[in-house]
Amino acid sequence: MSPATAMTAFLGTILQVPQRGQVARIDDALIIVDHQGMIAAVITSDDPSYEAECTRFDRLGLLNRLAAGSYLLPGFIDLHVHAPQWAQLGTALDVPLEVWLQQHTFPLEARYADLDFATRNYNQLVDTLLANGTTTATYFATIHLDASLLLARICLDRGQRALVGRVAMDDADQCPAFYRDPSPAEAVAQTRAFIQQVRAMPGNDHGRVLPVVTPRFIPSCSDELLYQLGALARELDCHVQTHCSESDWEHSFVLDRCGKSDTHALDQYGLLTRKTILAHGNFLSDNDLTHLASIGAGIAHCPLSNIYFSDAILPLAKALSLGAHVGLGTDISGGPSPSILDNARQALHGARLLESGVHADMARPQRGRPDQRISHLDAFWLATTAGGVALDLPIGLIAPGYQFDALVLDPATPDHDLFLTGDEDASALVHKIIYCATKPNIRQTWVAGRKVFDRN
Ligand code: GUN
Ligand code: FE
Repeated sequence: MSPATAMTAFLGTILQVPQRGQVARIDDALIIVDHQGMIAAVITSDDPSYEAECTRFDRLGLLNRLAAGSYLLPGFIDLHVHAPQWAQLGTALDVPLEVWLQQHTFPLEARYADLDFATRNYNQLVDTLLANGTTTATYFATIHLDASLLLARICLDRGQRALVGRVAMDDADQCPAFYRDPSPAEAVAQTRAFIQQVRAMPGNDHGRVLPVVTPRFIPSCSDELLYQLGALARELDCHVQTHCSESDWEHSFVLDRCGKSDTHALDQYGLLTRKTILAHGNFLSDNDLTHLASIGAGIAHCPLSNIYFSDAILPLAKALSLGAHVGLGTDISGGPSPSILDNARQALHGARLLESGVHADMARPQRGRPDQRISHLDAFWLATTAGGVALDLPIGLIAPGYQFDALVLDPATPDHDLFLTGDEDASALVHKIIYCATKPNIRQTWVAGRKVFDRN
């Protein structure tokens, strides 16, 4: 590539998990990023052109050298965030989902009619996620068109890659009068307006913020609305996001109402596509998993939220073995942490607990479910590469053709818990990072080749 078209280059050590179970470390790689934020080349130190290219970019003042001892990781991808619920993070985790929605969540979300309230909370949330290394977030906003557009605008201004949905919910039995769409037609009109306005937003020419068709979940939407949103997603070729087979109550509600599981009902509504992200999926059957895998729809595994609202743990290893696309979600505020690292750890813990079982009064063979554990490499992969696959976007990997969405992990930062001896191989490094890295270790965050967070 000629330097005239190169925006910038990076020199540092890449650590990533390009495929499930395969770790890759590339020491002192030269990464060349074009004007669109796309990685044009990754040149390794044994390449004959390496020295000359490093020198050339350095002379042009275009070379970013990572601090010695730090690692360049793909940015974290959060597949499921309720942006308005940021205001109640860490509260109301002691009631069941259906009570939590009516008593806490709907009243809070209704307040986003107030754009000052929305501005304050959304700015703080996006800044916090960037500081936690989340380069892509997939957001539910609220039913308010203006506040949902505001969230998209804030993501664009702050530089975060985002998928944003204006929430649709019209069922008068399940949604309170103060927080619901007045009719299916109105919900669809507002969703269409949202999609068009996000796509036309100044500064969004490259689609760094994508609109998402967002029926909240089957219980809060009429059949008519669900069918129309399926048609809209197809017409406008949009991502889709919703909740799926989350808890005993929700799963049974859909079975009663639709006579089939969420997966098959969503498919019937036209809402199950390659670009669909289903939050949770704890009660997915083998048949559901095989079906959604055949379509290529993705699951946002939200392991912290599952503890409080799901009555069960996602059979993650089984979902992966049946070919489902899975990534991680914080499910703010169902999960009480904005950190994908926290959720990656909890994915490991949850899978391990599912395998062993937890009730000591039961005999060992009856206590758990065999073959459920995942590895530390799986947890890293789910937090990065697998999230990009689920979204069907060129993100989650530091490789040519992918967007330069990355974080700089600094093991030597003050006030941290990540202690390296220097003897770790690549797998052991990932192991320590997944278990011990915390927010202070995230020194910089980059999206599309642009620095969007710097701890210094
Ligand atoms: N199901 C419908 N709405 C929600 C929500 O806001 N959070 C979670 N966890 N589940 C839901
Ligand atoms: Fe959720």
